[in-house]
Formats: sequence, C-alpha cells, structure tokens
Amino acid sequence: MATERLVSPKPLAVEADDAPNWSLRPTRLDEYVGQRDLVERLSIAIQAVRRRQDPMEHLLLHGPPGLGKTTLAHVVAAEMGARAYTTSGPALCRPTDLVAALTRLEKGDVLFIDEIHRMPPAVEEFIYPAMEDFRIDVPVDSGMHARTIQIDLKPFTLIGATTRAGLVSSPLRSRFGIAHHLAFYSREDLLSILTRSARLLELPVADRAALDAIAARSRGTPRIANRLLRRARDYCQVKADGRLATPVVAQALALEGVDALGLDTLDRAYLKTISSVYAGGPVGLEAVAATLNEDAGTIEDVVEPFLLQIGFLARTRRGRMITRAAAEHLGLPPPAESTGSTLFTDA
Ligand SMILES: Nc1ncnc2c1ncn2[C@@H]1O[C@H](COP(=O)(O)OP(=O)(O)OP(=O)(O)O)[C@@H](O)[C@H]1O
Ligand SMILES: [Mg+2]
Repeated sequence: MATERLVSPKPLAVEADDAPNWSLRPTRLDEYVGQRDLVERLSIAIQAVRRRQDPMEHLLLHGPPGLGKTTLAHVVAAEMGARAYTTSGPALCRPTDLVAALTRLEKGDVLFIDEIHRMPPAVEEFIYPAMEDFRIDVPVDSGMHARTIQIDLKPFTLIGATTRAGLVSSPLRSRFGIAHHLAFYSREDLLSILTRSARLLELPVADRAALDAIAARSRGTPRIANRLLRRARDYCQVKADGRLATPVVAQALALEGVDALGLDTLDRAYLKTISSVYAGGPVGLEAVAATLNEDAGTIEDVVEPFLLQIGFLARTRRGRMITRAAAEHLGLPPPAESTGSTLFTDA
C-alpha cells in the first residue's frame, strides 16, 4: 500500500468523514466560495422553486475529489430548508436497500448519493421511477406469488456525486435536471477559503502572504488547502509564537515535503525517476512504478493527474515523458526532444 500523502485530494484515514474539517464547511450558498457558474445556476433554481413550493430539480455533480460536492449537497438542503440524507453507490447492493431511505424523505428533502457511478444496474433501474414520478415498485414475495406494490413518495431532490462522469450511464444522466462539472479553484478563491478557515479556527494571521503561500501549494483543491492550513497551524504554535507568518509557513510546508508548487516527495521521485533512469522518457507506467516500488494504479490516480494538469508530464502513445518545465523546476537536465523529432536531426 502506498503511504498516505498530505497533498492527496482524497480524505485521509485520520480525517474520516472530514471530521476536523466539518466546522470549516460552508453551510449556505453565499459562504460557498468559487464555482460561480454553478452557484449562480443553483441560486436561480432555488429561488424559483421556493416561490413555487416545488422541490429542486435533481442535480448531478462531477469533478475531482475534494472540490466540494458533498458540501454543496448539504448547502442545497439547507437553502431549501430541508434535510439531507447521505448514502453511496457501493453501499446500495440491492434495490430494496433504498426503500427505507426513500420512504422517509419529506417534501423537499435531499437524498445525496456519493459515487453514484458505482450503483449496480438493478438499483439504477429501481430509482428511475422514483426520480421521474416519485413512486417506486417494491417487489414482494417471490416465485409463483411474486408481485410488486407501488409506493408513492414525497417529491424530493436527488443529488448525485461522482469523480468519474464517464461511468454514469446515459439513461441515469438524462434524468438529472442539472448536471455540472466542478473545476479546480483559482488561487484567489483558495485564498478566500483559507481566510475564512483561519477566521473560524481563530488563527491569528501575521500577513496575507502566509495564506497565499498555502493557496499556491494546494493543487486547486479546498480540501488540501484546509489540511495544509491545519499543519501550518500546528507548526506555528509549537515552533513560533502561534501567528501564521510567511517564513514559518514555508518552514512548516518544507518539513512536510511540500514544495512551492504543491509537489510532494512522491511527485518529485516520480519525475526524477523518469529523468534519470529513463532519460526523460518516453517510458511505460509499469516500468516507472516498478522502479519506484509503487503501485501503478496509485501513480495513475494520485500522482499523474496533477502533473499532467500543470504541464509537467506528457502522456504519449509510447509512454510518459517529463517536460522541459518539470526539468527546470526540479533542476534536472532538460529532456531529450519530444517524440519523433530525432528523425529530423542532422546526421
Ligand atoms: N466552495 C468551497 N468553499 C469553502 N470551502 C470548501 C468549498 N468546497 C470545499 N470546501 C472545503 O473542502 C472540504 C472538502 O469538500 P467536500 O468533502 O465537499 O469534497 P468532495 O467534492 O465531496 O470530495 P470527494 O469527491 O472526496 O467526496 C470541505 O470540508 C470544505 O471545508
Ligand atoms: Mg464527498
């Protein structure tokens, strides 16, 4: 198993359910930072349905981990003055697993299904009439006496979240009134999130640049920003006067192995291996993984996406290559020219 990474966008085991984060979660739409298009769409939808006394349309949220999907589901419920019930795709093995959850929903309540792409097909089909007509057909008895009884539900809102939009079947996707992709946050948005979190944690901030230094290292992800902030807080309280100041923050994050761009030890080891062992690439994922003694799946899911996004890694048909920008950042020799160009060099 790979070691847990401070810069992982997924929740770490120690923060199960984001418990230490929970108090940092925005609860209303106007506290929800960034994602302006989505917030605008939702605020219009919410105002309209409140006036008509209807439930909100079903909402599908997709995007990378830690960007605020779960948070938003609770925000929508709060704005509707309703409650939110949470479940997840893998927890729903049989259609009947949903009966209890659906029948206790009151008008306007939110049912939040995380990892909705992992719902088995039978459950998916069971949920279609619930979404469309607010009724379910529950099978009773089996064999010769098999029959179904129909149960009417109160109009509710289904919010589905997924990190893998491509895996949501098109019949399911088409039943959502609003589908939206959450994008990475800008540095300014992360700075506002951190400013708010520091205030909630009652953390004295010596200069804004200290928070900005954390924002720059957060990989566009609020969950990582809040985590780095908590680490920096510990460090400042133990090693300094408890106030968040730029030099102390830099020391704290350096101690955690996070550099100025948010890369950690594993990211750097990965890039260095391609550079020094494989002459900058192209090289197959399996080969780099074997050299690093890491699991190939882990590298593909947790290391490569961010490196690709910041243009430090190129994926070609012949394998992975590091880019010139990555080599410059790490002080490595520049990679050989990219694919194919060797064909045209002078003999
Ligand atoms: N727009 C935002 N404004 C302020 N804080 C935010 C925002 N979005 C997320 N956060 C913070 O980031 C943390 C992670 O968000 P959340 O748990 O909602 O992510 P997620 O998209 O559901 O992730 P996963 O895919 O892993 O379930 C929250 O605890 C919250 O404190
Ligand atoms: Mg979530």
